[in-house]
Amino acid sequence: MRPPGGSLLVRSIGLLVTNRPELGEGALGVLRDVDLVVQDGTVAWIGGARTSPAADEMLDAAGRCVVPGFVDSHTHLVFAGDRVEEFTARMAGTRYDTGGISATVAATRSAPQGLLMESAAKLAREAEAQGTTTLETKSGYGLTVADESRCLEVAGTVAEEVTFLGAHVVAPEYRGNEQDYVALVTGPMLEACAPKARWCDVFCEEGAFGPDAAREILQAGLDHGLGLRVHANQLSCGQGVQLAVEMGAASADHCTHLDGADVDALAESDTVATLLPGAEFSTRSPYPDARRLLDSGVTVALATDCNPGTSYTTSMPFVIALAVREMHMTPDEALFAATAGGARALRREEIGTLTPGSRGDLVVLDAPTAAHLAYRPGVALVAAVVRAGRVLG
Ligand code: NIG
Ligand code: FE
Repeated sequence: MRPPGGSLLVRSIGLLVTNRPELGEGALGVLRDVDLVVQDGTVAWIGGARTSPAADEMLDAAGRCVVPGFVDSHTHLVFAGDRVEEFTARMAGTRYDTGGISATVAATRSAPQGLLMESAAKLAREAEAQGTTTLETKSGYGLTVADESRCLEVAGTVAEEVTFLGAHVVAPEYRGNEQDYVALVTGPMLEACAPKARWCDVFCEEGAFGPDAAREILQAGLDHGLGLRVHANQLSCGQGVQLAVEMGAASADHCTHLDGADVDALAESDTVATLLPGAEFSTRSPYPDARRLLDSGVTVALATDCNPGTSYTTSMPFVIALAVREMHMTPDEALFAATAGGARALRREEIGTLTPGSRGDLVVLDAPTAAHLAYRPGVALVAAVVRAGRVLG
């Protein structure tokens, strides 16, 4: 391994997706037959094959396709146990509701910190092996001051972007007493958790938090200096999306049940619609109307939502394949949403693209084009992953 800093030459790239249309062909700004150099973590040079400056290390793309590293902007990696029986029952006809979350809360509360750390790190490694170079993850299975706080500590060890989701559901011991739980979240819990997170999220849904409680929690998050994200309109056509837009959230996540006013509000805002088709797959639910969002000019992101209840996958390639097959996104739209879209959902400028100045995060695909991610579903097409100029794995 080379010392910190230094440079990496990625040689013989058959097709490079830059995600900057002004730099190349089509919506993804594709360049053909180029080399790319990452210097001190940042893309420093892209140019004709075999004309690059010298570098400390070399990765041979051997004529294959290179894309920006995937940005998984929505996961729940900090939990203990699994809910395979719930999944199996659902596949036999049971409907998903938010009740199952309490099983994961109980398992997480009783798990030692080391175990939470190991299992979150294992999931993060799984994601990385499938091309994810930026991860967001959150708390939300602790629901006490101490447990939310320690879950955020774990989150901070495995993900660059950390979100406080004390308002996932009302904690079991506060059931029937929502106002007191909201007071706990907006008071001592946020006090303890805000320093450990960049974002505050709330699950705005029947069986979780109504719009008034959600607004109060988001406002408290803002007051503590956090950016906002909302689990919105997942199970029903509620107020979550409107609230996300009203509060200036970076992202409204799920967006499964939208009406025209929701789509218009998103289109006129900076709030990204983050679609999580792994959740629809795993709860056997209708998929969000991605076409309507895209055709209305909404910025769309794709993410895994990895969690033990509704979407136990860390695979962005799987999500891309679902988006293309089930949500009628083109392969180009799906790849953009899984990279640059995720970057926008996290309000990050330096990731999601491959252009001089971008962080050197990239995936060498064992395929000639990025469309193969959807065309060859379920096949391991990630040949190499590079984060900030370091070859991983
Ligand atoms: O994003 N929507 C809320 N939270 C998770 C599911 C949580 C669970 O069932 O454990 C989601 O789908
Ligand atoms: Fe989620």
